[in-house]
Amino acid sequence: MKQLTGNQVRQMFLDYFSQQGHMIEPGASLIPNNDPTLLWINAGVAALKKYFDGSEKPRCNRIANAQKSIRTNDIENVGRTARHHTFFEMLGNFSIGDYFKEEAIPFAWEFLTSPDWMGIDKEKLYVSVYTDDQDAYRIWTEVCHVDPSHILKTDDNFWEIGKGPGGPDSEIFFDRGEKYDPQGLGERLFFEEMENDRYIEVWNVVFSQYDCDPEIDRKDYKELPQKNIDTGMGLERLVALIQDGETNFDTDLFLPIIHETGKYARYPYEGEYKMAYRVIADHIRTIVFALSDGANFSNSGRGYVLRRVLRRAARYGLRLGIDEPFLYKLVPTVNEVMKDFYPYLSEHTEMNEKLIKNEEETFKKTLKVGQSLLDEEIARAENGVLSGEIVFKLYDTYGFPFELTQEIAEEHGLKISREEFDEQMALQKERARNARNVKDSFASQNEELMNFTEKSEFVGYDHLSCDGKIIAIFKDGEMTDSLHGEGEIIFDRTCFYAESGGQVADGGIVTTPDAKAVVLDVQKSRNAQNLVKVDVKEGTLHVGQEVRQEVDRQKRMRTTANHSCTHLLQSALKKVLGAHIQQAGSFVGPDYLRFDFRHFEKLTQEQLAEVEQIVNEYISAAYPVTKEIMDIETARDSGATALFNEKYGDKVRVVTMGDVSKEFCAGCHV
Ligand code: ALA
Repeated sequence: MKQLTGNQVRQMFLDYFSQQGHMIEPGASLIPNNDPTLLWINAGVAALKKYFDGSEKPRCNRIANAQKSIRTNDIENVGRTARHHTFFEMLGNFSIGDYFKEEAIPFAWEFLTSPDWMGIDKEKLYVSVYTDDQDAYRIWTEVCHVDPSHILKTDDNFWEIGKGPGGPDSEIFFDRGEKYDPQGLGERLFFEEMENDRYIEVWNVVFSQYDCDPEIDRKDYKELPQKNIDTGMGLERLVALIQDGETNFDTDLFLPIIHETGKYARYPYEGEYKMAYRVIADHIRTIVFALSDGANFSNSGRGYVLRRVLRRAARYGLRLGIDEPFLYKLVPTVNEVMKDFYPYLSEHTEMNEKLIKNEEETFKKTLKVGQSLLDEEIARAENGVLSGEIVFKLYDTYGFPFELTQEIAEEHGLKISREEFDEQMALQKERARNARNVKDSFASQNEELMNFTEKSEFVGYDHLSCDGKIIAIFKDGEMTDSLHGEGEIIFDRTCFYAESGGQVADGGIVTTPDAKAVVLDVQKSRNAQNLVKVDVKEGTLHVGQEVRQEVDRQKRMRTTANHSCTHLLQSALKKVLGAHIQQAGSFVGPDYLRFDFRHFEKLTQEQLAEVEQIVNEYISAAYPVTKEIMDIETARDSGATALFNEKYGDKVRVVTMGDVSKEFCAGCHV
């Protein structure tokens, strides 16, 4: 095998797939864009779901990316095993209705084994396929010439997340040799599918060919109109085997962080202390990347996850004898290791250091408060036992490791119960699982809508009513000629705004001389038409009919005012708090607006009042508001604010309000 750095491996993967005609997509933000089913982007495909369910068309049907991902469901295993992470990079190639198994399998094989690429010894590779997937088996044996004695057929090889696109998959494993097989079980470890450190899965190729539905039998799944390929390979694992690291952490992706941590620790990276170093190295990457993408520490959702990750890292710091804030000092090292592919991290250094240091200090205070709670509970304890609930609360809310509470309790002659604590922990995990709605993570493909490409013109910036022809109707996912009740309509021209950029969809009515429909929702379709969801209450609407459309005026006017106000608010926040204020999300509706941003401390009452006053001054100054379509380059050069995580086309709309605000925006403004 070649000697390669982690950065080289990532680049070679992208180069290989670029040579195979793939468009290289920059990795998406860790914070899912408009996807309430996910807390974090957790796989390459997670950022491409719209292409997989057919609701959006990519510029190129072949895509490859290195996608930063966060998974925290197995956080207790991080540091304990050789390859669990909360932050990792997934290398993936994707076909959106383009190539399928015939090419996807040989691509994977060539990249891993060719001397021009990874040059891995074929003898060391093993493959698993779905039991019924004869095609995959044939391609492995006849096209790639993999010896059948290295192929496992198993029913486990099926990849689906709830309803939506999924299918059989095929995995590639690497044999790390006898060093990682203390009992000498050999191939049994692989074929009997035992948990082991010898045969490591490196690549998963998913043949996304069925419309999955957990409610029905797999045999009855329908074939998808558009078949896709979804693959994933963990960069950290591949690098570990190429560099022959004992674990993923013993590679150039992590060792610099471990060495930097060592400067603050009392104990070196050896023996029982290795785990603490690994936890810290893993967690600081998660924190730096999440903060740089606009997440923040808080008490709920993503912020809560991030807080727990930081506290876990800080606790492991205590084990190494570090009781001063130190995680923030690791930020430049993370930046340095990752800068080749993630140069933007350095723009956030100062902010990230401040946020992390602040959070470490908060945690120290919390530990103190926990200590007094513990003292009280000890004084109050009955029958010489401290209840599992208390021990868990100390752990979960105050960051007390179980062992620490145990030690202190024992000093006072009290017992604590591990079982009760574990029970509480299991309940907590259950709550966390239920908080995420992963069940229907994907939408289903709608073939007729995907194939409908006739244009729909949006005239709603200048008109709150218009006439337009019905060019398509969909009911329950099928195309139809007429509609009574609920369904979706596409007009050749429409004044109804589709939800986007935080601004809610328009309401309104659609009428003909003998029919009347109420607008329930408006969404953009993959072919960029406004898909107007209506309920036809009276009469029937037909394809080909000219109809009258009227936007709910009051809702739109109030929403519009709130949208313009969002821009003014951003400008005022920058003025009061500093140039680092960036929009991290927003909601613009008729009743209120919400503007998300990150700042390293809580705003004071005075600052809030000042922001309010400035916005009110802006409003009463009644600045002219102009909207212009420009080339993206011209727009950027004009100094207009763009959203950090948003992808833009070649032409963009720029909204200017006097000399106080200039932003990329496709929304409605006063
Ligand atoms: N989406 C597939 C996985 O996460 C590749 O394993």
